[in-house]
Amino acid sequence: MIEILGLPAASTFADDIDRVFTIIFVAVGFWFLLAEGVFFWLIFRFKKKDGVKAQYITGELKSEKRWITVPHNIILLFDIVIVVAAVQVWYDVKQDLPEEPDKQVVRVIAQQWAWTFVHPGPDGKLDTPDDIAKVNEMHVQADRLHHFQLESKDVIHSFSVPVFRLKQDVIPGRVITGWFTPTKTGTYDIQCTEICGVGHALMPAKIVIQTAAEHAEWVAKNSSVAVASAALR
Ligand code: CUA
Repeated sequence: MIEILGLPAASTFADDIDRVFTIIFVAVGFWFLLAEGVFFWLIFRFKKKDGVKAQYITGELKSEKRWITVPHNIILLFDIVIVVAAVQVWYDVKQDLPEEPDKQVVRVIAQQWAWTFVHPGPDGKLDTPDDIAKVNEMHVQADRLHHFQLESKDVIHSFSVPVFRLKQDVIPGRVITGWFTPTKTGTYDIQCTEICGVGHALMPAKIVIQTAAEHAEWVAKNSSVAVASAALR
């Protein structure tokens, strides 16, 4: 449904999250329309009539209370459906950290008001001299598992990648690890989604999802070792 609204789904869990949104939208929408319908029907059905005295209803009779308790219980059942659907997806996205031998680890550092993305160089490892640090530009590979390590230099930020349906707060003093597997190539938005000072709105970045070959080429061109040897030449 969200894809219909123009936002592509570009991670393995995006469709699952969209499904939870759709369940909530339909359940809440159904009760909203029904409640408003009954509400307006009652207003018009029992509007003021000349010569008819308004009834004073205290709502203490069982037959009157049922107007509250019956819908209330049905809504609680709907809540259970929503909670069960949401917990399954939450576990998948937030509690579980899948492992694969060729996973890529990217460090994401937030500060007022920019993102720094540290990508592994050709050796595939972080914290080695060939790492590739980019400001406001994250590069990942489609169909490959990525772990991200979120760090903040100052205040709380939030790392949001709408096409992944991914959002995670960034807390100073902590390293928060999460994961995603991109499923579509292209360039998409990253946005800070936690008010982090006057420059909060100036904290957008881009995520570039490439095929394996394109990504390998980007890594070879941009690793600090490659850049340094090009400068020496
Ligand atoms: Cu960083 Cu808002």
